[in-house]
Amino acid sequence: MSKIRAAITAIDSYLPNYILTNHELEQMVDTSEEWITTRTGIKTRHILKGTGKGTSDMGTKAVDRLLKKRGIKPGEVDLLLCCTVTPDMMFPATANIISDNIGIKNAFSYDINAACSGFLYTLGTAALFVESGKYNKVVIVGADKMSSIIDFTDRQTCVLFGDGASAILLEPTTENVGVMDHIFQSDGSGKIHLHMKAGGSVKPPSHETVEAREHYVYQEGKAVYKFAVANMADVSVEIMKRNNLSSENISYLVPHQANMRIIESVGKRMGLDKKQIMINIERYGNTTNATIPLCLWDYEKQLKKGDNLILSAFGGGFTWGAIWLKWAYDPDV
Ligand code: UT7
Repeated sequence: MSKIRAAITAIDSYLPNYILTNHELEQMVDTSEEWITTRTGIKTRHILKGTGKGTSDMGTKAVDRLLKKRGIKPGEVDLLLCCTVTPDMMFPATANIISDNIGIKNAFSYDINAACSGFLYTLGTAALFVESGKYNKVVIVGADKMSSIIDFTDRQTCVLFGDGASAILLEPTTENVGVMDHIFQSDGSGKIHLHMKAGGSVKPPSHETVEAREHYVYQEGKAVYKFAVANMADVSVEIMKRNNLSSENISYLVPHQANMRIIESVGKRMGLDKKQIMINIERYGNTTNATIPLCLWDYEKQLKKGDNLILSAFGGGFTWGAIWLKWAYDPDV
């Protein structure tokens, strides 16, 4: 019998309406359109506004659109995984809340937190469920309301991030498409360079932690940058080599969108042309768990069945990894 593989069979997304421009950021902190564009490649990012709105509001919209697009009823879903670093609350899982909003009743659901590598780790995990032959319809939703953990008085971080959600459907196939290989790694000693100081069990929220602005992203940008370039490039080249893939037979690198310069360096190490790299950082910024599916969604019409894609990410933890994915469908099919 041929091997069961996990194929992405549909993708859809939700971006909140409000668009925060570099010019608006110039009014908020000591920065400039020129600095942001040249150092990061970002021009705009979407922000979820409105009291009482969280990650699940965006995730629910993305999943609802996904199921309608593929013509699937909520009752057919076996498993829903949400990757996020900005869950609605510490518990229950945002995946549980999204499932309830959608009316997914007979499935199990949980969150995965692997910072900016969350979507890749979750795709790898979900692929194993599908490959087991027990699960036929698995939804992954990458969603983050980064604006809820960003200090909009800190110019080093507030220009980088945006909000958004994107969802994919994974289904089994015996064709030679889908998730072909993956490499995942992590190194917790990287915590010192990228973390949130308070709000967890080590330092529960208190008046002092709020006053010290410790519930926001803390990032040592330069240190993270170096690790990101080296590790993303290493795993991307390794996954190419061990699968005998060369730059000529890769259709696209699908990189986590944290910084245009990181993306270009990784593409260069892989021997790729710029037109072989999916890039949308200029419009969305770093949406953490949504960056990679948002790229696939934006480029969906350009993808053909059998295209070789290398998905690659690096993030807090540190966590990083790469997936070799063969695209499973032609446009408008
Ligand atoms: O997605 C999770 C993983 N995260 C990443 O991959 C992010 C990795 N890091 C980066 O993308 C970059 O390091 C940043 C975009 C965060 C920063 O770029 P950089 O080229 O590494 O700049 P820097 O931190 O070395 O700062 C250079 C200068 C500093 O001024 P001085 O000390 O040279 O006078 C900063 O204070 O730029 C200054 N600066 C800014 N200036 C204007 C930092 N942020 C800003 C700003 N506007 N927003």
